[in-house]
Amino acid sequence: MSHVITLIPGDGIGPEVTESVIRIFKAAALDIEWERHDAGITAFKRVNQSLPVDLLESIRRNKVALKGPVTTPIAEGFTSVNVGLRKALNLYANLRPVRNLAGVPSRFEGVDLIIVRENTEDLYSGLEHEVVPGVVESLKIITEKASTRIAEFAFEHARQNGRKRVTAIHKANIMKLGDGLFLESCRAVSRNHLDIPYDERIVDAACMHLVMHPEKFDVLVLPNLYGDIVSDLCAGLVGGLGVVPGANLGKESAVFEAVHGSAPDIAGKNMANPTALLLSALMMLDHIGERQRAERIRAALGRVLAEGRIRTRDLDGDASTTDFTDAICREVEK
Ligand code: NAI
Repeated sequence: MSHVITLIPGDGIGPEVTESVIRIFKAAALDIEWERHDAGITAFKRVNQSLPVDLLESIRRNKVALKGPVTTPIAEGFTSVNVGLRKALNLYANLRPVRNLAGVPSRFEGVDLIIVRENTEDLYSGLEHEVVPGVVESLKIITEKASTRIAEFAFEHARQNGRKRVTAIHKANIMKLGDGLFLESCRAVSRNHLDIPYDERIVDAACMHLVMHPEKFDVLVLPNLYGDIVSDLCAGLVGGLGVVPGANLGKESAVFEAVHGSAPDIAGKNMANPTALLLSALMMLDHIGERQRAERIRAALGRVLAEGRIRTRDLDGDASTTDFTDAICREVEK
């Protein structure tokens, strides 16, 4: 079956890791027509828009996109393309499975948790202003609608995937109204899912428990900012940002991307680990019904990682992105 999918190569290591995925998909004889679109600084230079209209139209039409990371200027410049994209397409759920992979060196074993991050509001509303010189107000928006929607997503995901528990992460001891509303919404949803155990943790204590006993966590549901931070922390539990995938899911469309950013420190050096984007792309294949090919590629990746001879530098190896990609292609073609 042929598919048309929007592709955003992105910035920094984005073009390198997306190219790797395209090569591996070709090796698996997937029939995909990629509609390539720029975003961020590249698009801004070309059409004076960081999130061009034709890109949004392409995703709305195709319903599915694979996205490389996009650089966001710090403390200046255009607003985040990632935040803009998630809002424009109402991709309200950010799903990030964090698991040990055989052969990937990490501090822990037995980690198998799912991060469900609210993707549309919180401090990412982008609403901030200078009240008077020297005083800035940044608005943290929490709504019952978005909190209920993400909690329902977390419980549904738990049920469909045979997970054991949903934990809401919050700071409602301090932000009694904002995080209080998030928590109240999670509690209300949990009462409709009594077969799935539910508990709550304050975000700071949750971080401590995560770095001591990550194997005790299952599905975590978090407001946007905590979800962003805890995602990177959890990536560190299983070998780093090079191996953790993600999906931004809405009712109409889905954008698949790794947790990591554009990694300017290693961009253009053929050093990036494409595993995180490849695993995101495999989530995408599952999503579009190409489960068999996804499994075949997953198994090939698993064999290369488990064998351990060809690994990128973030995993204590010395293979280039190209070497690692070649090895997976060879396994896929076997
Ligand atoms: P980063 O995730 O790009 O990099 C953090 C560290 O992890 C760096 O040392 C980097 O070399 C390493 N790393 C990340 N991905 C890797 C991979 N695939 N293989 C090997 N090593 C990898 O985070 P940073 O440096 O804070 O952000 C850089 C830029 O990326 C910023 O402009 C940020 O806004 C943007 N960003 C974009 C995201 C997106 O498009 N979804 C997500 C996160 C950050």
